[in-house]
Amino acid sequence: LSRILVTGGSGNLGRLCSAELLATGHDVTIFDRFTPADAPLSWDTDIPICIGDLSDGAAIEDVITEHRPEIIVHLAAQPNPTDHPRLPATASFRAASQLEYPDLPRRGATFVSNVLGTYHLLDCAVRFDVKRIVAASSLCVLGTGFRITDRPFSFRSLPVDESHPLQPEDSYSLSKLLNEECYRAYADAYGITIAALRFPIIFYDGLEERFLKRFESEPRSIPAGAPSNLWVYIDGRDAAHAVRLAVETERLRGFEAFYVATGRTVATSPKQALLRFRPDLARVVDLMEGDEDLLSIDKARRMLGYTPRHPWGAERDSEVAS
Ligand SMILES: NC(=O)c1ccc[n+]([C@@H]2O[C@H](COP(=O)([O-])OP(=O)(O)OC[C@H]3O[C@@H](n4cnc5c(N)ncnc54)[C@H](O)[C@@H]3O)[C@@H](O)[C@H]2O)c1
Repeated sequence: LSRILVTGGSGNLGRLCSAELLATGHDVTIFDRFTPADAPLSWDTDIPICIGDLSDGAAIEDVITEHRPEIIVHLAAQPNPTDHPRLPATASFRAASQLEYPDLPRRGATFVSNVLGTYHLLDCAVRFDVKRIVAASSLCVLGTGFRITDRPFSFRSLPVDESHPLQPEDSYSLSKLLNEECYRAYADAYGITIAALRFPIIFYDGLEERFLKRFESEPRSIPAGAPSNLWVYIDGRDAAHAVRLAVETERLRGFEAFYVATGRTVATSPKQALLRFRPDLARVVDLMEGDEDLLSIDKARRMLGYTPRHPWGAERDSEVAS
């Protein structure tokens, strides 16, 4: 059992990860720019909270020197591109990007939190002997999410797995990809173990219905030449479970990235849905084995022992049917 610092611990995934880690006996401290009570989906906890901004190197150094974590679960991030020309205007996106940096243009907030903030975290982690970091990355590193152009995304093979080329366009996806490059370099240079879990859209209890509906309707109409999320998702509880597995497994060395999803799409036949919107992909689709998922989570199953436990889609389907 380990001393664990959870950055971004007041947020949605932070709440679930902290609960999962505490339940298995780990010693958890939260670092965030606001308390759980002030989070957009407010919650209460007795977990020790350190308030600070990751982009302030001194703030994260103070917390690490005081708590001396063995493992950091790194969730803190601006979870969208604040400079995107067509930023989705749903309430959940507005809530996530409500932070105002008084002395910075808001446009840069994504890179400041995600890239500069992660640099400060890595720098402190290796100086203060943190053994492992388990970080929330994103399916967005692939390049299908938050696209700027309408150019069709170039799928080279399906289902997508960790060997697929990455071609992000926007600042959020790029920040997550740059994070992964830094993780790889720090793991090589300093011997720290780092797992980046590439989550697709995460569903949490309490998310607004409008947001869920937008996602569900995607197999019938897809924007900007992708399917932007490959029609996969993950229940927040499964994401938190995967984080705990990556914290506890003995099998990790160096840097590893994993796609982690629920393993079930909202499209009945992803192949047919894809061909309807992207006939140019006929050859790639033709070579695809099976018709269950456009995203493979085999590496997470194999190396982390991950099995999705909350098929949100199935629960919803039965609710709709009844
Ligand atoms: N929500 C999704 O659909 C989704 C999908 C893929 C990956 N992710 C990633 O998962 C992680 C958790 O996301 P979430 O859904 O819990 O989002 P969230 O917005 O609920 O939580 C993020 C937390 O990070 C904190 N934070 C942001 N910038 C910070 C900074 N500079 N200093 C200190 N704290 C900071 C916020 O205050 C917030 O509490 C993020 O890294 C996100 O990029 C989320």
